[in-house]
Amino acid sequence: MPESTLVAKHYTHGSLVDAISRGIQAIGKTADTVDIDDLGPVDEFHIGGRIATASFLDQLDIDPAHHVLDVGCGLGGASRFAANKYGCRVTGVDLTQEYVDTGNVICQWLGLDEKINLESEDATQLPHPDETFERAYMLHVGMNIAEKQSLANELYRVIRSGGRLGIYDVMRVGDGELTFPVPWASEPRGSSVDPIEIYKSALKAAGFNILAERNRRDFALEFFAQLKSKAASADGPPPLGLHLLMGSTAAAKIGNMIENISRNVVAPVEIVAEKAV
Ligand SMILES: C[S@@+](CC[C@H](N)C(=O)[O-])C[C@H]1O[C@@H](n2cnc3c(N)ncnc32)[C@H](O)[C@@H]1O
Repeated sequence: MPESTLVAKHYTHGSLVDAISRGIQAIGKTADTVDIDDLGPVDEFHIGGRIATASFLDQLDIDPAHHVLDVGCGLGGASRFAANKYGCRVTGVDLTQEYVDTGNVICQWLGLDEKINLESEDATQLPHPDETFERAYMLHVGMNIAEKQSLANELYRVIRSGGRLGIYDVMRVGDGELTFPVPWASEPRGSSVDPIEIYKSALKAAGFNILAERNRRDFALEFFAQLKSKAASADGPPPLGLHLLMGSTAAAKIGNMIENISRNVVAPVEIVAEKAV
């Protein structure tokens, strides 16, 4: 099975708009009254959710004139956060058609569909002309992409000179086998976790200069401990949460991530890079 089919199959839920609509109803809201903060716990599918996004995107110096690319946007939670906070225009691309469709529905609910367009595309073969975007970022996507060099080359091509790229991915930080399932793959076949050095050498070979890197290990362990305790509470997980995306194996995925990070096999790491003028 090609990597792209495997990825889309892994993430496809089947009735995500309905599941999120039920969650919205359970918190006493409707599609007309739900806001960006209500949706953060379900539409930001990466370690640390909205808190991680805010601190990560602040390093990219985004301004209202920018056209920003959200690479592997998923449901577009970070796209909406960026458009709302910085006033920029955002294009999101993702392989999973259901995420793109659901994300565009949510943009309409929130009145952000003029500023944001989510498209069904492969990040390694983008349809956009050279130098389309002032900024690009990627949140927890590279773990599904084996060809890091093709990815880096393609991102370099679509970013303008002087533009910035931010990556926040789960990366290999030590030896040892990963325990599966994890949120991005049910088994090793769907996983392409690489060390930070591979990312950095692909980015440098594409032409980027590396500006910063940050390991978010402790923050990640705290995030998963909170997720685990919410899921185990007497009331069960909250109506809107990542369990809606991770399905019946959510508890195993959370437990395995706590283990994989605690054993120092992987950690979420940020890299900020620049395409020189
Ligand atoms: C863990 S989710 C993260 C989604 C989103 N970035 C977020 O943080 O909420 C990974 C996403 O990457 C997408 N993806 C994986 N490989 C991709 C590729 N080659 N091109 C575009 N999207 C891809 C998947 O479809 C999935 O939506």
